[in-house]
Amino acid sequence: MNTTSNSPRSRKRPGRPKTATPTGHANHAADAGRSRAGETAPAGPAASGGLARLKWAAMRSLMHTVGRTSTGIRIGYEHGFDSGSMLDYVYANRAHGSLGVGRLVDRAYLNAVGWRAIRARGELLRRTLRAEIDRRPDTRPVRVLDLAAGPGRYLLDLAAACPDGRVRVVCRDLAAPGLAQGRAMARERGLADVVRYERGNAFDPAPPPPGEEPDVIVVSGLYELLLEDTPIRSSMARLRGLLAPGGTLVFTTQTRHPQLEFIANVLPNREGEPWRMVCRPVAVTEGWAREAGFTEVGSEHERVGLFTVTTARG
Ligand SMILES: C[S@@+](CC[C@H](N)C(=O)[O-])C[C@H]1O[C@@H](n2cnc3c(N)ncnc32)[C@H](O)[C@@H]1O
Repeated sequence: MNTTSNSPRSRKRPGRPKTATPTGHANHAADAGRSRAGETAPAGPAASGGLARLKWAAMRSLMHTVGRTSTGIRIGYEHGFDSGSMLDYVYANRAHGSLGVGRLVDRAYLNAVGWRAIRARGELLRRTLRAEIDRRPDTRPVRVLDLAAGPGRYLLDLAAACPDGRVRVVCRDLAAPGLAQGRAMARERGLADVVRYERGNAFDPAPPPPGEEPDVIVVSGLYELLLEDTPIRSSMARLRGLLAPGGTLVFTTQTRHPQLEFIANVLPNREGEPWRMVCRPVAVTEGWAREAGFTEVGSEHERVGLFTVTTARG
């Protein structure tokens, strides 16, 4: 399991678009116009008044004290609440903690609506990927590339459920701890030859060797971390060019989230900054996929209703 740290983190990751940082906030002010029918604009410290600031300071202090009895919350402070390692703990969904109360606090944490939706998204993603694999001829393994996989537990589950030789997966990510964790899980599950891990920037993807183009590219839990639209639109266009003929892009969209303000004011991201996220109507992200040249584009909501999984082909 992951270790804990009491030191404040301040991490900068070079070479990728701005995630939802305070500088990006203003850029998405226009999204306030989208804040209807369950869609939520980014929220954060800048939006808070004096009383609200006190409330968030109290919440932060509670999370740093009582919260740290929960293993999940400690992982969040160590790796970032938006990290692949955090999501892996959420997928595993087994409460652990210290000092007697820790397990209860951890259970409450794991039951938060956002985490329930992440688990539901993971299930939907697995089903979607399995369908993409099954619709292809079985003359060779289907090549799946996940550009921000973290430990990639959903891909290990997918690979384990497929017949031998049916799929080959490459998990990429910027964060080394998540990749190391994934590699270890792949070894434990006897999947090290089927699921490989490598470091890489999703927004500057290394071109595959000729004849090794991925049939399916996955972008899960990444686009919603970006406040700006342009890098997402460029990414979709670039990924279309990397796919094998007849390939599919599978990506997620966060369409609403009832706890955005809490998250932005209380939880640090991988860079030790406020974790701000953006909600977008799925019609908008589907539109970007069409703009990028995909012709068959369709989405499904996970059962909790905060995320969609979109397949884009053509
Ligand atoms: C919210 S997690 C999602 C992990 C996983 N895809 C899932 O759905 O459970 C976001 C992941 O994106 C990774 N990440 C963020 N920016 C990245 C970039 N530019 N290139 C590659 N990975 C990135 C993080 O390290 C983290 O593992």
